[in-house]
Amino acid sequence: MDRFGSVILVAGLACFAFAFLLSGLYPYMITDHAVPAATIEDLASYVPADFKALKDAYPVSFAQRFSQAEAALTPRELVSLDASDPRRGQSEAAWQAAYAEALIQGRNLYISEVCWHCHSQYVRPVANESLRFGPVLTSDHDNNVLQQPVLWGTRRVGPDLTHEGRLRSNDWHVAHFFNPAEVTPGSIMPRYTWFYREGWQVMRRIDPGKADRTGLDPERAYGYPGVWETKAEAEAAMAQIKASLPSTLAGEAERMFVAEAEGPSSDLLSLIAYVQWLGTWTPPHLEQAQ
Ligand code: HEC
Repeated sequence: MDRFGSVILVAGLACFAFAFLLSGLYPYMITDHAVPAATIEDLASYVPADFKALKDAYPVSFAQRFSQAEAALTPRELVSLDASDPRRGQSEAAWQAAYAEALIQGRNLYISEVCWHCHSQYVRPVANESLRFGPVLTSDHDNNVLQQPVLWGTRRVGPDLTHEGRLRSNDWHVAHFFNPAEVTPGSIMPRYTWFYREGWQVMRRIDPGKADRTGLDPERAYGYPGVWETKAEAEAAMAQIKASLPSTLAGEAERMFVAEAEGPSSDLLSLIAYVQWLGTWTPPHLEQAQ
């Protein structure tokens, strides 16, 4: 019996050593050393519209996190600038810097919140996994700084996230991290309520006439984008929205009010930027081949 125990012990240690060695060697083996790993500047050279939309939707949290927020102009802000305004030229560089920061911080949060315990980032070339999770990628796709080391994950309690980027909207993620079960009934993913901060939001009650027709509660309200630090700031935002309403929507103003709300913190914006990035990067030499 003693001997049996020792065999199991040695076999266990050998398996552990093998896995340890392989995990250490893989990052080295996957890289084609002729092609250097993409740097964070490479990855952030194209800033997607969904990242820019986070500034419009959550201006306070965005400005708290990104020092470049003022110089990084959303399409909405650009429209109001003259064609010769120098701020136009500076905007894209500011976006790239902010996006690079968001990706790194988002990945760090993905690691520190242990998302990898429940989510893999590896579609295996077996069992028709690609039908469920999207195409199997080659090691070229891991040849970038955000996959050093690769975040394969340990097990799959939740779905594989290799191709999660742009599958869902930012709003979906904001609602999902706050309470996954509300968005995906029966979900066992934990709530990440510490990624939300308290503030004030501009709300609008449902049009009573429409509520009558659809059987909804007329007291139910929708939030306008933006969660502000203080009530006064939210009221100022509400005054601005009211002033910009076209005359055909005059009734809208009466249904608007300011209420306490919870909005995503700046950390969550980074985590969402990272999740929305997953699977969206193609190494340049493969892009040319396409
Ligand atoms: C205890 C396991 C667990 C942990 C920890 C966990 N998740 Fe999940 N996650 C799930 C499960 C189960 C689902 C599928 C049900 C759902 O949509 O909520 C899911 C779904 C998701 C989805 C939606 C995938 C889709 O269908 O498009 C995303 C994105 C996601 N998780 C990201 C994260 C991130 C980021 C973290 C870390 C902050 C995290 N998860 C932590 C279990 C987990």
